[in-house]
Amino acid sequence: MKDQSGGIAVVRQAALLRAQVASWQRAGERVALIPTMGALHEGHLALVARGRAMATRAVVSIFVNPTQFGPNEDFARYPRDEAGDAAKLAAAGTDLLYAPAVEDMYPPGFSTKIDPGPIADRQCGPFRPGHFTGVATVVAKLLLQAGADIACFGEKDYQQLQVIRHIVSNLDIPTRIEGVATIRDASGLALSSRNAYLTAAEKAVAPSLYRILTLTARRLAQGDLDPASAIEIAEAELTRAGFTRIDYLDLADAVTLAPLDRLDRPARLLAAAWLGRTRLIDNIAVTRGAVP
Ligand code: PAJ
Repeated sequence: MKDQSGGIAVVRQAALLRAQVASWQRAGERVALIPTMGALHEGHLALVARGRAMATRAVVSIFVNPTQFGPNEDFARYPRDEAGDAAKLAAAGTDLLYAPAVEDMYPPGFSTKIDPGPIADRQCGPFRPGHFTGVATVVAKLLLQAGADIACFGEKDYQQLQVIRHIVSNLDIPTRIEGVATIRDASGLALSSRNAYLTAAEKAVAPSLYRILTLTARRLAQGDLDPASAIEIAEAELTRAGFTRIDYLDLADAVTLAPLDRLDRPARLLAAAWLGRTRLIDNIAVTRGAVP
């Protein structure tokens, strides 16, 4: 059954989602899907705006996917606020909210896993075992359940975006994947549902991540430093700024995410670093001669 939550139509069953999307498409409409885990902020709403600009209907899914969280990660304490999210989505002009239950996404006997291969083995991969398999599997399910024409994902989670492009291409899933630039606050900090975990002191340090990535991308683009030296300097700068641990700071091929030691093709600088109990990620494009 379709019900209403905060002024927006909600479906919880995949069959109802598919029927609604198909009926729009039969009427000549184009449908965009925006998958999320809720706790929505302006970054998510930028994806909704892009979906609405590229299609005539926007469907948002909210599903805190248990299989992409490690045993010691924040699944239990991940912020959940469906009523607040529904009100934001209604105001943003979303046509339908899809909010399935965990038991319906993963009924007894569910066992299929999508392994994206080497693209999931680098950067966040070793620090979050099984994470990208969980993401790839749930995103494949959401794309197949909806049958939307396009689906929007943020560059904020750049490795996730490239993993999704890769599996969608490998599996011939007929949905066009649209990447959307990262939305930041005035300090440069990338908006994230997990920023809510930061203490006041950590919030003061957090913007340094993007500042140092930008500085490093500039040094690389200008050819001032070779990648290895630039990364070594940036890691020291992150530590000096107050980051308590650095998981990685990598220069990688912008498509495959394979490590690069020379800036001879479009590249991405990606980082994950900790402030106390909170892990922040961010990334920036690096192109020789194109100074950010
Ligand atoms: P979630 O973290 O809720 O993010 C949902 C989408 O919003 C992702 O595509 C993410 O990249 C994008 N996003 C988050 N912060 C953003 C920002 N500051 N600017 C632009 N886009 C931003 O990512 C997930 O959920 C899940 O892994 C999911 C893909 C839904 C699969 O479970």
